Amino acid sequence: TPDELAELLRSHVREVPDFPEPGVLFRDITPLLADGPAFAALVDGLAERYRGTIDAVAGLESRGFILAAPLAHALGVGMITVRKAGRLPGPVLGVDYSLEYGTARLELRSETVAEGSRVLIIDDVLATGGTAAAAIDLIERSGGTVAGLAMLIELVALEGRSKITGYPLESILRY
Ligand code: PRP
Ligand code: MG
Repeated sequence: TPDELAELLRSHVREVPDFPEPGVLFRDITPLLADGPAFAALVDGLAERYRGTIDAVAGLESRGFILAAPLAHALGVGMITVRKAGRLPGPVLGVDYSLEYGTARLELRSETVAEGSRVLIIDDVLATGGTAAAAIDLIERSGGTVAGLAMLIELVALEGRSKITGYPLESILRY
């Protein structure tokens, strides 16, 4: 069941106080990824949830790639790589967005998004929502339809969900 899956996954997330800076409680998914049955259960659960409803999976560099690639393979659809600035050869579409301190930029090759295709955006964590909102902008400007967003972890107190209104956003673990 979804509840059993969530409990299994939750038991493999490590809590790291004061990382990357004092006062922050970091949710570390490396133990989950390193556990074969837990990682498989995560990917299988996502595949079951989205099978037949999407045409492509968009992964957000870096940690979103870890989930997007096996999910795309399981679903038999392509993977769109949404990358950090300067990594992709042009032409690229880019979007600048603000972080807590400073700004960041995401880019994609719009040719990798088929016109009208139903795209699932996937990432490991929804925090402030800035990264996910930027990815929505890139997919839509490329002619795709954002069919949904899937996050392994949602940090509820940061209210990222408020930046994603109007799109189906599902998270497996909420803290
Ligand atoms: C982290 C995380 C999400 C994003 C969430 O990525 O993997 O992508 O932050 O934050 P937001 O909701 O406030 O935008 P990060 O850029 O730290 O790097 P990584 O994925 O390359 O490790
Ligand atoms: Mg990331």
